[in-house]
Amino acid sequence: MKPINVGLLGLGTVGAGVVNLLAENRDEIVRRAGREIRVTRAAVRDTTKTRECHVAEIDIGTDCQSIVDDPNIDVVLELIGGDGMAFDLTMAAIERGKHVITANKHLIALHGNAIFAAAERNNVVVSFEAAVAGGIPIIKAMRESLSANRIEWVAGIINGTGNFILSQMMFEGVSFEYALAEAQRRGFAEADPTFDIEGIDAAHKLAIIGSIAFGIPLSLDRVHTEGIRHLTAHDIAYASQLGYRVKALGIAKRTQNGVELRVHPTLVPEKALLANVENEKNAVMVYGDALGPTVYYGAGAGAGPTASAVVADMTDTIRVLSTDPSGRVPHLAFQPDQISNEPIRDRSDFECGHYLRVQVADQAGVMAAMTEVLADLDISIDAILQKDLPASNGEGDAHVIVITKSAREGNVLAALERIEAFEFAYAGSMHLRVAHFED
Ligand code: HSE
Repeated sequence: MKPINVGLLGLGTVGAGVVNLLAENRDEIVRRAGREIRVTRAAVRDTTKTRECHVAEIDIGTDCQSIVDDPNIDVVLELIGGDGMAFDLTMAAIERGKHVITANKHLIALHGNAIFAAAERNNVVVSFEAAVAGGIPIIKAMRESLSANRIEWVAGIINGTGNFILSQMMFEGVSFEYALAEAQRRGFAEADPTFDIEGIDAAHKLAIIGSIAFGIPLSLDRVHTEGIRHLTAHDIAYASQLGYRVKALGIAKRTQNGVELRVHPTLVPEKALLANVENEKNAVMVYGDALGPTVYYGAGAGAGPTASAVVADMTDTIRVLSTDPSGRVPHLAFQPDQISNEPIRDRSDFECGHYLRVQVADQAGVMAAMTEVLADLDISIDAILQKDLPASNGEGDAHVIVITKSAREGNVLAALERIEAFEFAYAGSMHLRVAHFED
């Protein structure tokens, strides 16, 4: 059969990984796909730059639009990143009847609703497996393999840089800055690492996960997002003493009153599977009502793993070419006319356990006053710990650490405000969430 011609928009680390993987596993891929996949054209910013792949058979230029317009290109692979030019080119390719594959989580999280509507109008498919958790086939698993289940919740470590920083701080005792620099050196941090450390990259991925899990429109602006920048070595150590690890999680949860979408550092019991995912590895746990919990673990970034997901999308796209459009896998797992407007809950209604660390003057009555506030707001205590601070932190001060049972977040924030208003308390308390999962 005639080969499939692919045009690349961008030929950086991932693009080079795709070209290399197609060459290295050519025979195996043809055996699976039934057709050869050829990268015939690529558009780059600088044509003189040395590429980490064989480029002899690729026509390399600088004009992305001419690739999108080229009638000989069957599939456009968007690897530019960001949500500006990448969006315009993706929409243009769709309008010209081309299938699009992208690794761009920002693009899908922000513009996915418009992109998928355009794809459905034009009978093409936009694939984005590499956008979430890199090489881990989590989109395919949720969209296809779990289609018999009502998905109750998804919780995952979906930013490798954040997980690497927390692992390195915990086990190697290095500083936040040192660990981040190392993540950048190893090449898995975003071009703008604030996306990693402020939780934005994970929020992009969680928005996609939430839509596929629950069949709701992409709602990036409704993802409650907190980064890891404010975490201290104190909190990592206290969590450890109480039997927890601090992990940066993305959580999408169905409740009776709507859906929770949140990204934040979370205390996870130290024996839980997610607690033991270290360094830059990703893991996503999905709870389906029929199957129960499942865990998907692997490399969430890097040339090879990301190319693995992109090339798998290519082989699926080849199959799409001979499929009746009505029988294709829907972009967001559910048929487009079945996407629901289930409410997304406000932060104050989130319910889970909480970790509070308050700095107080070490005097009689402090614990009693704090626990009275918690009781007043219907917050039940699971564990409590006091740690005296060295004199240099203020004479006679202590950290009081409270872990609560599941409580409404609005009540917990109100309690913290009331506690900080006591004369014995300092401002700047730490508030983290606690999550328990059935492994
Ligand atoms: N910066 C991302 C991460 C790369 O660290 O997970 C993969 O999306």
